[in-house]
Amino acid sequence: MACVPNLPAAVRPLLVISTFVLILTFWFNLNLSTYSFTNAIFDYANPSFHQLESVDETVATSQKTSVDKEVSDDEFAEPSVARQSSNVMQLCPLVSPKLVGWTNLSLAKTTALRKESVTKLIEAGIKPGGRYQPKDCQSRHKVAIVVPYRNRKDHLTVFLHYMHPLLQRQQLNYVVIVVEQSSRSAFNRGMLMNIGFNEAQLQEEFQCFIFHDVDLLPEDDGNPYTCPEEGKPRQMSFSIDNWNNYKPTAANHFGGVTAFSAKDFQKVNGYSNSFWGWGGEDDQLYQRVKFHNLTVARAYAGQPSLVRLVRYKTLSHKKAKPNPGRKLVLKEGSVRFQSDGLKDLRYKRLSFERKPLYTHIVVDIQPYSDRKIPNVL
Ligand SMILES: *[C@@H]1O[C@H](CO)[C@@H](O)[C@H](O)[C@H]1NC(C)=O
Ligand SMILES: *[C@@H]1O[C@H](CO)[C@@H](O)[C@H](O)[C@H]1NC(C)=O
Repeated sequence: MACVPNLPAAVRPLLVISTFVLILTFWFNLNLSTYSFTNAIFDYANPSFHQLESVDETVATSQKTSVDKEVSDDEFAEPSVARQSSNVMQLCPLVSPKLVGWTNLSLAKTTALRKESVTKLIEAGIKPGGRYQPKDCQSRHKVAIVVPYRNRKDHLTVFLHYMHPLLQRQQLNYVVIVVEQSSRSAFNRGMLMNIGFNEAQLQEEFQCFIFHDVDLLPEDDGNPYTCPEEGKPRQMSFSIDNWNNYKPTAANHFGGVTAFSAKDFQKVNGYSNSFWGWGGEDDQLYQRVKFHNLTVARAYAGQPSLVRLVRYKTLSHKKAKPNPGRKLVLKEGSVRFQSDGLKDLRYKRLSFERKPLYTHIVVDIQPYSDRKIPNVL
């Protein structure tokens, strides 16, 4: 017995043609969506940051020329040797060939990470202070990762052991800066971020900053930790496991993991220093960004593959007590955009230490009793 009914002879060619058209349409759509996905991720990641700055490349070329000239008298000199000795490195490719994609992050994996030795990471080329740059190419991005911290040693260990290899696979030039609040007053996340920004710029000039909670881990190394374009801060923690099971966060969510060009962060006067306790500082940063007409780059919810790329896992912890006064501070905060922030940042630096895997800064911070004098104590 035949499963397919016998079709009249006239219909058969039609069937063949329509199948062909169907296949063609499918193939075309597939290509189209690959194309727009690539565009979407490039738009989101801004991989060509350094290309905009032709200065670096000009310097590199002129150095190379002079070195080539010096050795050209020597008939036996190999051009490749000359290039090596000039210390000039190619820019890293737009997309790192070292990415593995989905990292299969799991609870078992974080347990294993906790026990890994620091030696292995140091051997990979991390310099004291958690400073790294690729050995075989010149990175397009110089990024400072700022992590506000207090009393989460376990999370910090996992964070460092997981993030260092991931950032290295992205061929970034980066540093990890952990800013620890010593005082027993309520945690002030915004102020610790401002301090991290300030302290990093005192060390060397970073093009951009990623403000990063210690308990969030990206699940795919294709999630770009590159510098965002100027005028377009990037909201990176967009799809989080414990936030409605990876549903995109609200359109105004601006916490967790957020990237800024140094210029933009300076322009918005950083975070407010006025939020003590959980919540509010991220919402106000968003208000500042809007006030300055900056555009926030988010993974577009209509691009499933892009959203998958920006997933985060949360290391579990007791939920902090929200500060009940945060809504009032938030409401009246707009009058202080210009003063409250980087401009009136005051803190006491208790220690500055270049540990093997991170720069550790311990600070004492207190609410300001007077708000007028911008000063660092
Ligand atoms: C993740 O798991 C998949 C399937 O189990 C495997 O094919 C892949 O190699 C793993 N990736 C990594 C980075 O371990
Ligand atoms: C933002 O844009 C509005 C409307 O174009 C303009 O009036 C305002 O001055 C801009 N704000 C800043 C800080 O540039």
